[in-house]
Formats: sequence, structure tokens, C-alpha cells
Amino acid sequence: MKAIVVYESHWGNTAAIARAIAEGIGPEARALSTAEAIGETVAGADLIVAGAPLLGFSLPTESMLKGLASNAGRDPTPPDLSQPSMRSWVDALPAGNARAAAFETRIWWSPGSAAKSILGKLEAAGYHTAAKPRRFVVKGKYGPLREGELAKAKTWGAELAQAMK
Ligand SMILES: Cc1cc2nc3c(=O)[nH]c(=O)nc-3n(C[C@H](O)[C@H](O)[C@H](O)COP(=O)(O)O)c2cc1C
Repeated sequence: MKAIVVYESHWGNTAAIARAIAEGIGPEARALSTAEAIGETVAGADLIVAGAPLLGFSLPTESMLKGLASNAGRDPTPPDLSQPSMRSWVDALPAGNARAAAFETRIWWSPGSAAKSILGKLEAAGYHTAAKPRRFVVKGKYGPLREGELAKAKTWGAELAQAMK
């Protein structure tokens, strides 16, 4: 079973969760940024897990990311904006029939869901849902992750691997 865990991450929280999920899935899984998840790596995957932060109550939009870029100089914690958005990555993903799951990182009380949007797009492209959308919580606007979230991500990865058997 080949699995990829693809992430959009501007301050590192979603990337850290993606790595923990991949670790939980097992040695056959790789965590990849949206820039790295291209071509054969994606086409050959039996399981695609995709994650993004919830920004502005939504899966980040291009206009939200442009806003972050124009504000970057004044931002107390400058974002990494070098990777394509998850929205553009999943919209460009070729149709397929692998299994799929989605997650987000976010503040606990916020409305909106990036994971539901990602999963809807994956389903529309033919992928088969392997699990309910999953959220992982940060303590402040830029993180860090709440205690225990990395362990939960690893456990979720192991559950996903089990569901593939
Ligand atoms: C500009 C900005 C807007 C945000 N908007 C939301 C939001 O609407 N809802 C929410 O739950 N969290 C929001 N957050 C918190 C992020 O979702 C959280 O920090 C996330 O883990 C960032 O992921 P990353 O470090 O992988 O980029 C926001 C953070 C920033 C900096």
C-alpha cells in the first residue's frame, strides 16, 4: 500500500501533523508539500491524505494568500508562501479512484472546515472517502499545536492504514 500525506502549511503546524500521520500510516507513507506532490508520486498512491489550515473560516483562497503575502513584512510570524495552495493542488489533481482522507489544523472554536472542502473536491474527482474529515487544534493564531495533537495524528494514520487492509 502506497500512501501520500499532502499538505499546505504556512507556519508549520499542518506540516507537522502531516508528518505524524505519515509516521502512523507506516514506512510506505510519505508526507509531501503541495509542491512536492506531483506526477508519478501522486498517480501511484493507493491512499491520498490531504490537509490544510483553516484560514478566514475556509480552505485558504488565493485572495486570502495574496493578503498574507502583502502583509508579510508586518506579520509578527511571517508565513511561508512558497508552496501552491491546497485548493489549487486538489483542483488540478487528475481524476482517480484511490482512497482519500482530509484533515485541517485550526483554532478549536472556529466555524468553517477546510477538510470538508478538500474531501468534497477529492470525491468530485472520483476518489473514495476512507475516513471522516479530521481536525487538529492549535492554541493560538499561529500555533503551536495543542498538546497531544501529534500523538492523535499518528494514531489516526495507523487507523487509516488499518482501514486499507
Ligand atoms: C490570518 C489567519 C487567519 C486564520 N483564520 C482562522 C480561522 O478562520 N479559523 C481557525 O480555526 N483558525 C484560523 N487561523 C489559525 C490557523 O488555522 C492555524 O494557525 C493553522 O494551524 C495554521 O496552519 P499552518 O501552520 O500549517 O500554516 C488563522 C490564522 C491566521 C494567521
